[in-house]
Amino acid sequence: VAVTYEWRGHFNDLEVNQLHGQAFPIQVPHEGERNWVDLVHKYSLGWVVARDDAALVGFVNVIWDGLTHAWIQDTMVAQPARGRGVGTHLVEVARNQAAAAGCTWLHVDFGEDLKRFYIDSCGFAPTSAGLIALP
Ligand SMILES: CC(C)(COP(=O)(O)OP(=O)(O)OC[C@H]1O[C@@H](n2cnc3c(N)ncnc32)[C@H](O)[C@@H]1OP(=O)(O)O)[C@@H](O)C(=O)NCCC(=O)NCCS
Repeated sequence: VAVTYEWRGHFNDLEVNQLHGQAFPIQVPHEGERNWVDLVHKYSLGWVVARDDAALVGFVNVIWDGLTHAWIQDTMVAQPARGRGVGTHLVEVARNQAAAAGCTWLHVDFGEDLKRFYIDSCGFAPTSAGLIALP
């Protein structure tokens, strides 16, 4: 079965919490209990859901400033589905939909280890960025 990609596609909290736990194994407080459905409807421009048959295999959240800047957050692909282009395609859908919404910039930040994914595969240009861990 081919993987399907849906902008603002249907999902439930349990399946995204499970995917998030697999993608980001370091647990944070209240991990696994996030109300993703409420959160993305409240704050996001949209999100992309990837399914292989019925199973959720990928998800990315697209947040924005309401006008021109969009950011991708929590790009995640289920372990067995990795290395097949699912992550790259999730980002491509996010990029096209942000452009369709009138955004002129798509941002992401990531660690050195993910340069091959975001720069080489997804097409982001390298830039300087800053980050502060808040208490
Ligand atoms: C990063 C992630 C979303 C990539 O998804 P994916 O579907 O495996 O990615 P793709 O198959 O589209 O990868 C395309 C290319 O990107 C690079 N790439 C993919 N995952 C990578 C990783 N984890 N580290 C470094 N490079 C990676 C590879 O060059 C790959 O090409 P190849 O398969 O020919 O070697 C997935 O590994 C994941 O969910 N990781 C855990 C969560 C995470 O770190 N998310 C990003 C937070 S900023």
